Amino acid sequence: MVNQPQPPLLEIQNLKKYFSAQRGFIRRQLVTVKAVDDVNLQVQAGETLGIVGESGSGKTTLGRCITRLYEPTGGKVYLNDAGGRISVTELEGEDLKRFRRKAQTIFQDPYSSLNPRMNVLQTVGEPLLVNKLAKGKELEERVTETILQVGLRVEHLQRYPHSFSGGQRQRIGIARALVLQPEVIVADEPVSALDVSIQAQVLNLLIDLQQKYRLTYLFISHAMSVVRYISDRIAVMYAGKLVELGPKTELLEYPRHPYTEVLLAAVPRTAQRHRGKRNVTPGEPPDLANLPKGCVFVPRCKYAQDICRAQAPELRQVGTNLVSCHFAESLHLQGIKFETT
Ligand SMILES: Nc1ncnc2c1ncn2[C@@H]1O[C@H](COP(=O)(O)OP(=O)(O)OP(=O)(O)O)[C@@H](O)[C@H]1O
Ligand code: SF4
Ligand SMILES: [Mg+2]
Repeated sequence: MVNQPQPPLLEIQNLKKYFSAQRGFIRRQLVTVKAVDDVNLQVQAGETLGIVGESGSGKTTLGRCITRLYEPTGGKVYLNDAGGRISVTELEGEDLKRFRRKAQTIFQDPYSSLNPRMNVLQTVGEPLLVNKLAKGKELEERVTETILQVGLRVEHLQRYPHSFSGGQRQRIGIARALVLQPEVIVADEPVSALDVSIQAQVLNLLIDLQQKYRLTYLFISHAMSVVRYISDRIAVMYAGKLVELGPKTELLEYPRHPYTEVLLAAVPRTAQRHRGKRNVTPGEPPDLANLPKGCVFVPRCKYAQDICRAQAPELRQVGTNLVSCHFAESLHLQGIKFETT
């Protein structure tokens, strides 16, 4: 019998999220901020898709639309799992709650994302209680099992967030997501607030958990140096759009979009490692309420030509990658050698 190819776990089609925002001090004006604009993506079960881009490029908004923490302005999200195909963007009521259990988020700041008045047992047990999945002795057992999986100890159960280090707090955040036995985890800058010496420990924990539970990760970071460590494929976002997507090694070694080249140029090359500071792309960040007519990257692109100002490039297959650049075939861009440390 021929094996049927598995459909992707997540299918994201033409996803859009627009916000209304006020502009101007004297003459107030309502503008539309296109935080996510027409993003198409597929995520395979068990993979880590890294999503990278500078601050304001729409990474968090994309993650939140996929998990339905935000209502998308347009487009579709589908989940294909053992239960069949679900149209995530149409879910309501109990069905939406059930989906939210399957798609959890780990947040950036382990200091502000934990309630200081709740101990570890209460923090990690709360999602079980709220979803009426366990209480009493059973809840305690499930929480204990989960915190052991993330490298915490039984004596930590009664302790409060203030008594933990940043790395341990992030482990509590991971346990809180894991306790619901999700299929997908959106990890939104999960190590950006941590000291560089702790970052690798938390990344390695995420990798171990993924292998153990066959988790699927959407791993969001502004730092290519972090994304390249954990991802199987990498999606590059710029101004709310997906500009390049490819397998990790190919995208790192042979980038095809000029913005990917800029991000790669900022990856530290020597022992002087990334220390949580933001790498800044030269030039003005885009105004999402007033994007250029042609390619969104045109004001900052050193390869721009007339056609780039007149016509927006489509995302299309070039070699192993999907790229939106008119000159993706002819540019010879500078990549970096893939290394895991
Ligand atoms: N609730 C909101 N109302 C209005 N604009 C918003 C809202 N949330 C996000 N935005 C805007 O949408 C754009 C994308 O924001 P988003 O937080 O998704 O970016 P990001 O890539 O996650 O950035 P960072 O790396 O700083 O976390 C930004 O211009 C931001 O100001
Ligand atoms: S389409 Fe033109 S402006 Fe846009 S990235 Fe390619 S070369 Fe640069
Ligand atoms: Mg963000």
